[in-house]
Amino acid sequence: MSLFALHGLVKRFGGLLVTDHVDLEVERGEIHALIGPNGAGKTTLVNLISGTLAPDQGRVVLDGVELTGLPAHRRVAAGLSRCFQITSIFPKATVRDNLKLAMQAHAGHSFHLLAARAGESALDRAAEAMAVRCGLEAVLEQVAGTLPHGVQRTLDVALALAAQPKLLLLDEPMAGMGPHESARMLALIQSLRGDMAILLIEHDMDAVFALADRISVLVYGKVLISGDADTIRNDPQVQAVYLGDEAASAATFAALAQEVA
Ligand SMILES: Nc1ncnc2c1ncn2[C@@H]1O[C@H](COP(=O)(O)OP(=O)(O)OP(=O)(O)O)[C@@H](O)[C@H]1O
Ligand SMILES: [Mg+2]
Repeated sequence: MSLFALHGLVKRFGGLLVTDHVDLEVERGEIHALIGPNGAGKTTLVNLISGTLAPDQGRVVLDGVELTGLPAHRRVAAGLSRCFQITSIFPKATVRDNLKLAMQAHAGHSFHLLAARAGESALDRAAEAMAVRCGLEAVLEQVAGTLPHGVQRTLDVALALAAQPKLLLLDEPMAGMGPHESARMLALIQSLRGDMAILLIEHDMDAVFALADRISVLVYGKVLISGDADTIRNDPQVQAVYLGDEAASAATFAALAQEVA
């Protein structure tokens, strides 16, 4: 059984069918990339998975647990974490305090049960270990909101990891980053491989091909194809839509829209 599955997921915004009977499976430990042109419905799918949006039809299942209809915080408790593009960071608190708050929120009672001082130091050790894991140890005492964009996004990933997810949702983790920051984020995601499954939405195709065990291509709300990197790279439709030159892709895209309609 797959770790995670979407079954016949449907979402409409008014007359617009943005998620069109999507079936998707993510295996344990897998990095699964979701790619597709702008407006394909990728972020909508992440919102349906995380519980920010409710689907019109279909089911979301994680490790045998039905998530459909659960509020977002219950999904986090069930093992689903999502990076919120920095909005989950407390900008006026230090990196250390951000990490401590996140760890306490998710492992609350195990720290509460300890005597106040021992609990505090255990929380500090846990925060420091997470900082090391994510390469944030040098900025532990800095105020989060003053950090460069790429470092804040790394902190956002660290906060998501504090919940010890079975599945981590990453929606364009490299957006707005320079080459150096992107390379660091890529290495961080690479280092998580095997510890949890990751559903990665990313426009940077070099990053996708470097990271993904499997790739699904979303076009107009439908999964066009799922497969390993070679299958996706060599698929003529994908090449035309996504990897081909701009002019060719516009024409093929229109044809493809007819086909998947
Ligand atoms: N709340 C909403 N109400 C109405 N339409 C919406 C809403 N959210 C998204 N849409 C529309 O749904 C479609 C899919 O949007 P979505 O943001 O999911 O695409 P995406 O694949 O994430 O695109 P991008 O690559 O640009 O991030 C778009 O046509 C968008 O305009
Ligand atoms: Mg999007």
